[in-house]
Amino acid sequence: MLKPTERIWHNGRFIAWEDAKIHVLSHVVSYASSVFEGIRCYETSAGPALFRLRDHVRRMLDSAKIYRINIDFSLDELADAMVDLVRVNRLRSCYVRPIVLRGYGELGVHGTKNPTEIYIACWEWGKYLGDEALKEGVDVCISSWNRIAPNTLPALAKSAANYMNAQLIRMEAQVNGYSEGIALDHAGSVSEGSGENVFVVRDGKIITPSLASSVLPGITRDTVVTLAAKLGFPVVEAVVPREMLYIADEVFFSGTAAEITPVRSIDRINVGNGRRGPITEALQKEFFAIVNGTVHDHYDWLTPVTAKALVEAAVVEVTA
Ligand SMILES: Cc1ncc(COP(=O)(O)O)c(C=O)c1O
Repeated sequence: MLKPTERIWHNGRFIAWEDAKIHVLSHVVSYASSVFEGIRCYETSAGPALFRLRDHVRRMLDSAKIYRINIDFSLDELADAMVDLVRVNRLRSCYVRPIVLRGYGELGVHGTKNPTEIYIACWEWGKYLGDEALKEGVDVCISSWNRIAPNTLPALAKSAANYMNAQLIRMEAQVNGYSEGIALDHAGSVSEGSGENVFVVRDGKIITPSLASSVLPGITRDTVVTLAAKLGFPVVEAVVPREMLYIADEVFFSGTAAEITPVRSIDRINVGNGRRGPITEALQKEFFAIVNGTVHDHYDWLTPVTAKALVEAAVVEVTA
């Protein structure tokens, strides 16, 4: 259950958590016309810091552009709003969820006359696939549901509609006793999990499906590629046949929620020896050292939420 915070950002001002409501006839409710992001704010020794904030905001603007949703705020304004939101809610670590949606107005499929509503919420959040998962790995299956095919729904957009597909994948997996499902693409090659990108390790080489395999261009995926290069592990984007998963030395997920999570079995076949592998572990170590602020952030991936004066104008607006 979500633990409410004090404020949610709406179209440029802060409102109370319980006032962040939309009408049931808002365009988004019938037609899934929203795009969104999920961003982690980590607790570091220098205070809270948002991970790859500008990259997430950029992807949200890209998603909106694909769907012809106009946004009247710049990347900088939205990024600043997220930093301010974490600050006004006085959280040390949290998950940040900006949502851009087509709101209340006309009701028909073509929604460009409906107003764009932007909400940003944040709340405290733990580990997505469970605390043990990062160390022990998770048991997953190949989903009977494929990922969305090219030129049906755009996979590069993080839109609500795509998550109907994700729900089918995830529900099926969990009903059958797995933590997660990996979906294949329209051609039967590996695509991604319901909320994670997939990496395969074989003979010291790391392989991940390319963007042509209906995957979300994950920010953590890009982080893994960058960190792997630094550690000297080559990463290639390739078509990954399903059976490559069964004979891999290591398989792991990447994602804002899942971070870097080892996969220990697929369809009840052990991945490698059924334990977290050395390359996965090395990447996790590097990743967590950066997000927890224990090593220098060479990449400028962390945006600090400094203790500067509260965004008083906005807070006054709400309390007045
Ligand atoms: C379908 C899907 N794939 C991949 C990812 C991983 O993306 P990111 O690392 O940007 O969180 C997510 C999470 O947002 C997702 O929902």
